[in-house]
Amino acid sequence: MIKSLALLSLAAQVAYSQSTTETIHGAVIFSRHGDRTWKGAPPTKLTTVGQNQLFNSGEYWRSRYLASGSQQQISGIDSNIYEPAQFSAAAPNQALLVTSGQAFLQGLYPPTTVSETLANGSSISPPLSGFQYAAISTIPDDSPETIWLKGDDSCPAYDYSVAQVSTSTQFTDLEKSTKAFYESFYDRIFAGVLSADKMSYKNAFTIYDYINVGMVHNTTIHDAISSSELTQLRTLADSHEFALSNGEARSVSGRTLSAKILNQLTSVIDSKGSKNKLTLYIGSYDTFLSFFSLSGLSSSNADFTGLPDYASAMSFELFSNSASFPAEKDLHVRFLFRNGTENGDAQAFPIFGGANTMAWTDFKAKMSDIALATVQDWCGFCGSSDGFCLQYADTGILTGQSNGKELKPAVAGAIGALVALNFVGIFVILGIFFGLRIVRKSAAQVVQEKQFDQAAL
Ligand SMILES: *[C@@H]1O[C@H](CO)[C@@H](O)[C@H](O)[C@H]1NC(C)=O
Ligand SMILES: *[C@@H]1O[C@H](CO)[C@@H](O)[C@H](O)[C@H]1NC(C)=O
Ligand SMILES: *[C@@H]1O[C@H](CO)[C@@H](O)[C@H](O)[C@H]1NC(C)=O
Repeated sequence: MIKSLALLSLAAQVAYSQSTTETIHGAVIFSRHGDRTWKGAPPTKLTTVGQNQLFNSGEYWRSRYLASGSQQQISGIDSNIYEPAQFSAAAPNQALLVTSGQAFLQGLYPPTTVSETLANGSSISPPLSGFQYAAISTIPDDSPETIWLKGDDSCPAYDYSVAQVSTSTQFTDLEKSTKAFYESFYDRIFAGVLSADKMSYKNAFTIYDYINVGMVHNTTIHDAISSSELTQLRTLADSHEFALSNGEARSVSGRTLSAKILNQLTSVIDSKGSKNKLTLYIGSYDTFLSFFSLSGLSSSNADFTGLPDYASAMSFELFSNSASFPAEKDLHVRFLFRNGTENGDAQAFPIFGGANTMAWTDFKAKMSDIALATVQDWCGFCGSSDGFCLQYADTGILTGQSNGKELKPAVAGAIGALVALNFVGIFVILGIFFGLRIVRKSAAQVVQEKQFDQAAL
């Protein structure tokens, strides 16, 4: 009730703030993939339900940013024809994410039946009723570009920090208090799927995910689970995943995404609105959650500590109150979020503790504060030894300095601990070699288990 009243007043504010003669010059959309098969049984695939969700989302954003007649149509954008200078899309090179992007693009740029007249005078129609070949860049995980949409992957400082929070008292207390609850699902649902010792808060997301997928696709699960059980599983998974995305190093994927968004909107400004009018990125829920925590959304509105639904999208739109492209100081930014595809319109929300819209110059300053702006910064922040980081190895990144910027103590500490962790690793190897057994669980093992249950897609 309170929630819906708040939404109503928000909607009123949005309607009010958009009633002036506002011109949108560019927007960047970040979207989650749609309904999919269980992450625990790869290859994970976008389902028919998921295809429809992304298609719906593409149509929704089309109706806002492309459709002629829309009050928010981006200035000068072609409303029907895909034009690479105006629009681009990118996704990490993972089938689920790429397919999700493709389904979105089909909604965004539906077929256009433009026929062509040939030299001999005959007219020819395109295949598939004019399907448009809107391109989506796929980013391999060994490319330095991978950090912008997947900043947490292969980031040791992130892994270390996740391992720390996973052994915190907050987690171990919850593990104890929810043990019986999780175990109650074993015989009914998980026998033969997960081993019995996995039935705990440690695997909150994996367990929730299996059941959530099953609620849509598996009759046994659909009939066996009550809606209050599902809600409880979801709420626990929310708290678990939010904790893993909230914190200096744990929010790394939101930091790199922020840099990418800032760059893309800057390129709109540099071209005076003639290039990169609309951008689509596809990614995972953990990147949403880390951006929500970095931007203050989750501290001012608890809804933002929950997992975004499938095919959720957030958009950053650049606008002015003039028709022509203004000076930088007269540009504004609005943040919008659409939770899944069944909750109506996207809503504007205040980021960085401000109002529903903010001056571009403020936005730029606030985003720069949280962003990891260069690959070198990321390599230093993460303490990564990825191939593309090696070129920076002699610039002091492992001693806690990168690009002249002093790393914040928490991160530098994490890196120091990682060096120690590698040291433990060497001991484990030596131990195996000499027939010794190390009984205490190493932090590296905790990280590995974490990676199993985290399944951040
Ligand atoms: C015209 O040219 C196209 C492509 O070369 C060909 O397929 C078509 O049969 C031609 N039509 C006539 C009437 O010659
Ligand atoms: C449906 O879920 C049950 C319970 O986990 C499982 O035993 C069964 O194999 C699943 N069916 C399919 C078709 O995946
Ligand atoms: C999105 O919806 C889910 C429930 O489906 C909820 O848990 C979450 O808090 C919502 N997020 C926002 C920002 O409203």
